[in-house]
Amino acid sequence: MKRMILTAALLAGVASGTAWAQSAADAINQRQAGFKAIAAATGDIKRVMDASGDLTTVAAKAEEVSAFGKRIPALFPTGSGTESGQRTRALAAIWQNKSDFDANAGIMVREADRLAAALKANDRTATAAAFGAMTAQCGVCHRPYRAPQ
Ligand code: HEC
Repeated sequence: MKRMILTAALLAGVASGTAWAQSAADAINQRQAGFKAIAAATGDIKRVMDASGDLTTVAAKAEEVSAFGKRIPALFPTGSGTESGQRTRALAAIWQNKSDFDANAGIMVREADRLAAALKANDRTATAAAFGAMTAQCGVCHRPYRAPQ
C-alpha cells in the first residue's frame, strides 16, 4: 500500500511536470538557456517594431516569453544557487524572498500575454505599451536577484 501511494505520488510529480528530483545543474542549464531564448525573442520583436513591420509575424515570440515565464518558479529549486558549485548568477536573495521572486515572473507572464494579444491585433500603440511593461520587468527582477556579470 505504501509503495502504491509512493508510485502514485511519483507519477503525479512527473505528469504535472514538476521538478521532481531535478538536479540543480539541470535546473540551472534549463533556466539559463531559457533566459537566452527569451532575450533573443524580445530582440526579434523589437526589430519588427522598429522596422514598422507586420507585428503578427512575431506574436509567437511573446507567447514564448510567457511560456518560459510560467516555468521560472520551478526552475529555481532550493539548492540551485552558487552553493550548488555550478556557474550561476542567481543570488541567495531569491530563496529568501521566493514568493516575491515568483510574483515578478508572474507579472512578466501577464505583460507578455498582453504583448502577444497586441501583436496579434497588429496594434502598434498597444504593442509599444506592453513591450515597455514586459521589458521593464526584466530589470525589476534582475536588480535584486541576479549578480552582475
Ligand atoms: C523572475 C525574475 C526574472 C525575470 C522576470 C527575468 N529574469 Fe533574466 N534572469 C534572472 C535570474 C535570476 C538570472 C540568472 C540565472 C542563472 O544564472 O542561474 C537571469 C539571467 C538572464 C540572462 C542570462 C542567461 C545566461 O546565463 O546566459 C538573460 C540574457 C536574461 N536573464 C534575460 C532576461 C530578459 C530579456 C527578461 C525579460 C523579458 C528576463 N531576463 C526576465 C531573473 C529574471
